[in-house]
Amino acid sequence: MHETDANRFPYADFPTGWFAIAASHEIGAGEVKPLHNFGVDLVLYRTESGQAVVTDPYCPHLGAHLGYGGKVEGDSIRCPFHHWKFDTTGRCTSVPFAPAPAKARLRIWPTAEHNDMILVWYDAQGRAPLWEMPDFEQTLAPELQGFATYNDIKTYPQEILENGADWLHFNTIHTTRQLEGGIDPKSHGDHTLVFWFQTKGMDNDSAMDHFRGEVAYYGPGYARNLSWGKPFPNMTVENSVYATPVDRGTLQIRSMHRIVPSADNQVPLDGLKQIFAGLGPEITRQLEQDVVIWEKKAYFAQPMLAASDGPILKYRKWYQQFYPNGPAQSAAIGKVA
Ligand code: FES
Ligand SMILES: [Fe+2]
Repeated sequence: MHETDANRFPYADFPTGWFAIAASHEIGAGEVKPLHNFGVDLVLYRTESGQAVVTDPYCPHLGAHLGYGGKVEGDSIRCPFHHWKFDTTGRCTSVPFAPAPAKARLRIWPTAEHNDMILVWYDAQGRAPLWEMPDFEQTLAPELQGFATYNDIKTYPQEILENGADWLHFNTIHTTRQLEGGIDPKSHGDHTLVFWFQTKGMDNDSAMDHFRGEVAYYGPGYARNLSWGKPFPNMTVENSVYATPVDRGTLQIRSMHRIVPSADNQVPLDGLKQIFAGLGPEITRQLEQDVVIWEKKAYFAQPMLAASDGPILKYRKWYQQFYPNGPAQSAAIGKVA
């Protein structure tokens, strides 16, 4: 850990919740993949019947790493070293030429697959999942769906997702229109928070760049941004952003972005494809602008805000629930006297 990291963010633990560790298409049936997230090595595999499984990497026999040479056999993973086999619950089911020791187990991480992402549950206190993640409508046009991963970003999931509550920065950094909005009463439990927003003055102005949208948070690692309006006739544009810890102070971001045409859509597929083609580069453009800020900024627990700011404190108050052990140090960084 760099000393500067501890000084610029007060929470030592990774937040509790579901985090994306791969897009569904990145691991096929029978494949095995080593991962590093939440400060530890992990192994992701997919059984031949299609279930994604995340396990601790080291075989309880003599410690071989299952992510390097481990093989999927049916619904089990076989260790590369002496061929012990483990089922999807982590139980050892077979050992060559001997009965399987009853106590031999792999630790399996709670894993789920929603909206074309594989999600794993993390909790510093080791609790079982406290909520399930939602499923949204399926993508009907795969050519209108894209994925991107951005690795090795030096910040914290809370800082990434704060973007959705920081409406002023869309104008100042990303040069979009000014936004206004509020909390959407449509909430789905304590672990969710929804803000609606729209461009300022859109009711009295016929310009073509006005839009509305919402950002819906589901736990500490996922923000689903939806936009619709004049630039996107008869459709909803989705940018689902997943922030997943790698090590303390380092994370990866995944984006699943797509266009969902409405039932009365009049835009031909070519037109939709053209709008979609602009989406990925726009997300990357905005992200690169944000990364420069994120990687150097400090988190002020009590920031000095102005009337033009979005609901940043509401977002932060909501987010604190995901740190069961609270802040690691006094929240005095940048405190306003
Ligand atoms: S180390 Fe895995 S079977 Fe021996
Ligand atoms: Fe941004």
